[in-house]
Amino acid sequence: MTRHLLDLACLGPRGLADLLLLAEEVKTHPREARYADALKGRTLGMLFHKASTRTRISFEVAMNQLGGSALLISTKDSQLGRGESVADTARTLSRYLDGLMIRTFEDERLAEWAEHATIPIINGLTDLHHPCQAVAYLLTVKERFGTVQGVSMAYVGDGNNVAHSLMEAAALSGMDLRVATPQGYEPDAEVSRRVRELCAEGGGRVTVTTDPKAAVDGVRAVYTDVWASMGQEEEKARRERDFAGFQVDDTLLAGAAGDAIFMHCLPAYRGLEVSAGVMDGLRSAVFDQAENRLHAQKAVLLTLLVGG
Ligand code: CP
Ligand code: NVA
Repeated sequence: MTRHLLDLACLGPRGLADLLLLAEEVKTHPREARYADALKGRTLGMLFHKASTRTRISFEVAMNQLGGSALLISTKDSQLGRGESVADTARTLSRYLDGLMIRTFEDERLAEWAEHATIPIINGLTDLHHPCQAVAYLLTVKERFGTVQGVSMAYVGDGNNVAHSLMEAAALSGMDLRVATPQGYEPDAEVSRRVRELCAEGGGRVTVTTDPKAAVDGVRAVYTDVWASMGQEEEKARRERDFAGFQVDDTLLAGAAGDAIFMHCLPAYRGLEVSAGVMDGLRSAVFDQAENRLHAQKAVLLTLLVGG
């Protein structure tokens, strides 16, 4: 059966732990011959229905550094833009490519690609998930604190794709995650139900509150994300009103542990979800986290395209 990465839940605790170990390993030995040629002759297709800087570039560089190549598939100029079906395109591309990374809107659309493709489909962000980002997050936490198991963290902001993947990551890897959102912006109910099952499997703890101060109290990492995600541009003004009091600033961060780090998947909007002081301050780990996308992606590609 073709292995896909549609969300972190499909990896299970063991699969996620293995992915994390491999990400650490490739980061430590980037130039080793076994990695330099690991994907020789293989091609990853990349399809974006939404904008991207980090995901696109880090996947392309990861493929190059592993000896393979990446190909950006234009949604506008391909026949997809003229109505060719996902099913037919997935079957065709499976004859040329070794893997396909997709950033799109509905998760059902990604599942449709996975249903018809005979090559691995990698979720490069959907409305409900951003799994590759969460692997980079775990790698960053492990580097800072030596472990992910038992580490406490808070996610303050919208109960969105990034929050969902963090919840799955925390559940599967034994972390203690407190999610604080304004009322009405809580994580998706079905994702939350699945996360409860994953907590039982992986030993994590995930709680949801509307009180950012309570969530941040004593934690080692504070994470936030944009208030209006891609596709929610018209809601921007309303969301800025509704998220008042949810900015991660020095006052909020002061409630965290003394060695707490600040995390953000980027792009960040200073003055909205994060203050400039926190974003550019000493506790900010955001560019380490951005770098770790590259190493995390390599682990994903090695696991799915050649089996680790
Ligand atoms: N964090 C992240 O996925 O960044 P991009 O949107 O730039 O890919
Ligand atoms: N939640 C954001 C993440 C961007 C990387 C979005 O979906 O736009």
